[in-house]
Amino acid sequence: MTSWIAPAKIILFGEHAVVYGEPAIAVPVASLKAEATVKPSTDGFKIIAHDMDAVIVRYDVSLIEEPLQRTLALLQQYTGKSLPDVEIHLRSSIPMASGLGSGAAISTALLRAVSSAMDADLSDEIVNSLVFEVEKIHHGTPSGIDNTVIVYEQPIFYVRNQPIERLSIARSFKLIIGDTGQKALTHVAVGDVRKLMETDPESTGKRVKAIGKIAVAARQAIETGKITDLGVLMHKNHHLLQELTVSSPDLDQFVEAALSAGAIGAKMSGGGRGGNMIALVTDDCAEAVANALRQAGAVHVFETTVA
Ligand code: MEV
Repeated sequence: MTSWIAPAKIILFGEHAVVYGEPAIAVPVASLKAEATVKPSTDGFKIIAHDMDAVIVRYDVSLIEEPLQRTLALLQQYTGKSLPDVEIHLRSSIPMASGLGSGAAISTALLRAVSSAMDADLSDEIVNSLVFEVEKIHHGTPSGIDNTVIVYEQPIFYVRNQPIERLSIARSFKLIIGDTGQKALTHVAVGDVRKLMETDPESTGKRVKAIGKIAVAARQAIETGKITDLGVLMHKNHHLLQELTVSSPDLDQFVEAALSAGAIGAKMSGGGRGGNMIALVTDDCAEAVANALRQAGAVHVFETTVA
């Protein structure tokens, strides 16, 4: 019995603008994960999806628009091999459709598990490109940041279609993640920003570029250990995302609640319109911020250290 694990992710800076070629920063969240365990099977290939009432999923090429099926199809196409006689037990602690990369993490763990059972050795680069193809179902026109941070499991400074740059963290810092519990479809928010880009290219373009500059400044702060500089950058980035219409009343309220409880900075994270926000905290205020988010209605509150 072998298990393959892939982490969740959060975007620290640059979501949405990254779709237009601006840089963004994302980090893995190892405490939340998708896991695929391989066991021998007596009745052919199957997936047991434990988070969906242990439903049994068989490969069915007519369901190719479904992410698990697309993942299996891409793997067979790439390797030229058929699916092995194993059962894959899938479990995930990552909330779905909440901007934490649950889809990309599940595809990554599944690809690694099934390819190992096929004796097909896939490089990270290949896994990344296959997961990116699956991401198109969730995101429409993904930038590739979510699959990249999850597959490589490293903090990254990401620019679409450019070599991946690892971010070096000069001083570790702590974040609290607040989940609004509102499921949000990333491709809808991404599509709405695209409409803004079409109807008002000048101011939308300026906002997108301003977000890119914030990501560059944030990289410098992170790589030189000036963590408190991130607070003001988070504030500016959140404001620009509000102007791009991808925040939500709950996300704004959570950001306010975190700041009032002493957070250094706070912003929405990921696709927006629901999903998650992040707050940068010190050890002294971490608990107060977590409590403030629960009081504001967060359905999950997670703490993670970026190191
Ligand atoms: C979603 O996690 C991040 C977005 O920038 C979309 C993307 O980059 O594909 C909103």
